[in-house]
Amino acid sequence: MYLNREEERMLDGEFGEGVAKCMKLLVTLGELFEAKEMVKIGSSHVSGVSYKNIGDPGLELIESFAEENVKVKVKTTLNPMGMDRERWKEMGLERSFAEKQLRIVKAYEKMGVISTCTCTPYLVGNNPKFGEHVAWAETSATVYANSVLGAKTNRESGLSAFASAVTGRTPYYGYHLEENRKPTVHVKLKFKPKDSLEFSVLGYLVGKNFPNSVPFISGLHEASLDELKTLGAGLASAGAITLYHVEKLTPESRFFRDEDVKNCEKFSVGQEDIRKTISEISEEEFDCVFLGCPHCSLEQLENVADFLRGKKVNCRLWVFTSKQVFEKAKKLGYIDIIESAGGLVLSDTCMIVSPFEKLNITKVVTDSCKAAYYLPSTVGVKVKLENPRKILEEITV
Ligand code: F3S
Repeated sequence: MYLNREEERMLDGEFGEGVAKCMKLLVTLGELFEAKEMVKIGSSHVSGVSYKNIGDPGLELIESFAEENVKVKVKTTLNPMGMDRERWKEMGLERSFAEKQLRIVKAYEKMGVISTCTCTPYLVGNNPKFGEHVAWAETSATVYANSVLGAKTNRESGLSAFASAVTGRTPYYGYHLEENRKPTVHVKLKFKPKDSLEFSVLGYLVGKNFPNSVPFISGLHEASLDELKTLGAGLASAGAITLYHVEKLTPESRFFRDEDVKNCEKFSVGQEDIRKTISEISEEEFDCVFLGCPHCSLEQLENVADFLRGKKVNCRLWVFTSKQVFEKAKKLGYIDIIESAGGLVLSDTCMIVSPFEKLNITKVVTDSCKAAYYLPSTVGVKVKLENPRKILEEITV
């Protein structure tokens, strides 16, 4: 693999042992995937932040980099950690967990990482330009960066994204190359998704049937950014989809001609397929509501607040978002409305990466197929799928 002079100096340890380790990891990765060279990146997004997931070995590794005075070279954000940094007691978590979690975040901060912990970094200032090369981890964020923003990233691991943040480079292969960004399956919609649940299930269904594809979706004439966010999270959860195109809606779709799409495998999705999929993966009961997978935007919090104004919920309602969106929503009064109704709005974390199995929650309702995919396997919780409006109607008095 070709390295320029600066990259060789990084590998040789001229910028310190930590930088050399990061470059070595990227060279190994590049050689594995037959990358010919490195490419400079504009930003990074690092996952593997939760103490629940990385434990003491991860904590020690990150602290060792921070102690060596390693610094990130590009704008770098973090994925959700295992708790809300201010409200972990309200989540029912133990001090011993919180202390170790905060040490991880502090070590990242020392290295120059922006420590808002969210899976929607593009909503809080890590917003790559069209065509920009980046190195992002977190499946739902990666697919959004590639598909909705038109940036270029592979589906990085926490460690490779961190190594890229430190070196400002990523191996030039996979979705960084134009030839790998062409559609491989043509998804024809025979229905109009009407809520976040249907966008999520559509993604799940395509991801499950074509796990390594680049879908080109036609027949979807409008979708908000929140809906595209939800669609992408569904696509990336049941499969390894990292890039999709929607005819006339996502930025790269305009580059593909009829013949690019004509030769793709075909897949049609109708309303009945969505209904069937929901009934296959959804349980009937729940005693707890989770909204915000991926993290809620300000508009999604506004919708929840609008519905809950003057009402009371009759079961546990947790809503997840980023710290920045939380602060804006707080100023606008949305948080107070949701919490006066009995809900709890948490930032910096989510149900999958928090030590949730200790909280005696066994049955959850959510609008997210990603949550429905991971919750049973990671924490043994049963999941009902429902659209957010209906969920709120069912739990309010
Ligand atoms: Fe985000 Fe957690 Fe869902 S990281 S996409 S809220 S599983």
